[in-house]
Amino acid sequence: MPYDILSVRSEFPSLSVTDSGKRRVYFDNPGGTQVAKRVITRMTDYFTTMNTNGGGAFITSRLSDALVDETHAALADLVGATDPDEIIFGQNMTTLTLHVSRSIGNTLSKGDEIVVTRMDHDANISPWLLMAQDHGLTVRWLDFSPDTYRYDMESLASVLNSKTKLIAVNYASNATGTVNDIKTITRMAHEVGALVFVDSVQFTPHFTTDVVDLDCDFLACSAYKFYGPHQGMLWGRRHLLEGLKPYKVRPASNALPHSYETGTQSHEGMAGTLGAIEHLEWIGTSMGSGGLSRRARIVSAFDLIAKYEQKLCTRLIGGLQSIPGVVVHGLTAAEDMKDRVPTVALTKKGHHPRQLAELLGGANIFVWDGHYYAIEVVNRLGLMDSGGMLRIGLGQYNTEEEVDALLNCLDS
Ligand SMILES: Cc1ncc(COP(=O)(O)O)c(C=O)c1O
Repeated sequence: MPYDILSVRSEFPSLSVTDSGKRRVYFDNPGGTQVAKRVITRMTDYFTTMNTNGGGAFITSRLSDALVDETHAALADLVGATDPDEIIFGQNMTTLTLHVSRSIGNTLSKGDEIVVTRMDHDANISPWLLMAQDHGLTVRWLDFSPDTYRYDMESLASVLNSKTKLIAVNYASNATGTVNDIKTITRMAHEVGALVFVDSVQFTPHFTTDVVDLDCDFLACSAYKFYGPHQGMLWGRRHLLEGLKPYKVRPASNALPHSYETGTQSHEGMAGTLGAIEHLEWIGTSMGSGGLSRRARIVSAFDLIAKYEQKLCTRLIGGLQSIPGVVVHGLTAAEDMKDRVPTVALTKKGHHPRQLAELLGGANIFVWDGHYYAIEVVNRLGLMDSGGMLRIGLGQYNTEEEVDALLNCLDS
């Protein structure tokens, strides 16, 4: 069965909300997606039937603990990990990255080097700069080409050496939409003995994530970008996590994953995150080839979602390129569509991005403008002083009609 957009849309209650009779068009997805029905059901169910803290000798605590365990397993299936204990939950990706960077920093000393990039969201830059400051590390920067919007592997080779201990790199850019070749980056980093920390916040909502295939060491993402609640998660190799010192309070467990899950977690957030995975499974089963395992059902869902979003993105980019004065800052060629997420940043000659966002906002079309914390990208493109870029982020529930409405609005 092909991707059934009407069925998918019917799973999102917020899509039918109107404002003074006007429908809402959610193109603000890279900043946060709408949540699926199963997310709301799971969260309501948590609060209604098992709301309590963990480790108690009574039914709600047992149910809550089982839910927490199940969500770790579901997240392992989402990122292709085999060990649920390698999944660590936290408030958001930024908090988790700051948290684990403290533990990693403890193993490094003056003279060691790290690599950060000009394409990353600041959540995968500042934590490492702070770690470098604390431990006297040398920071090297991996640049991207403002012409190709990609990293150049020769530049990567030039910043790696035997002193490199870590590279922090984005899987997909939250500004240009570029999907990076993490496998090659990881191989090159491992050749010099460096660890690889991948920010998958913008990749995981659109494609199958597979930490085994990537061979990276850490990977972080956020459920609120893949149709779930505000909740962050980090995957790390067991032996690495166990080899680091987790910053924790003494009574907290010394065992994974709880040794890194500081304080009381958002159990309702985990319940909602499980609902987001179940939503993906529903797509995989009802419209795709499904599968016996949760992982197979997730992969089957992303096969369909990626194809659908690619078609929509091609329509959007084609339309944008036909509007006088519009420049798309990212990959646009048909053969490059597989190397980008459907997040499209643009400028329009003679118009401030904020002005365009307000115009679209007036038509109830929601888009972001500015730098969205991708300050290195916007600086590199020379657009910081002119208000950054307008960003249109497509997701699994957007339609061709919505894309056309945006194009008409921008054209007029
Ligand atoms: C690529 C990327 N990385 C990291 C983050 C930060 O995620 P969180 O809000 O979960 O800290 C974002 C948020 O927009 C992002 O787009």
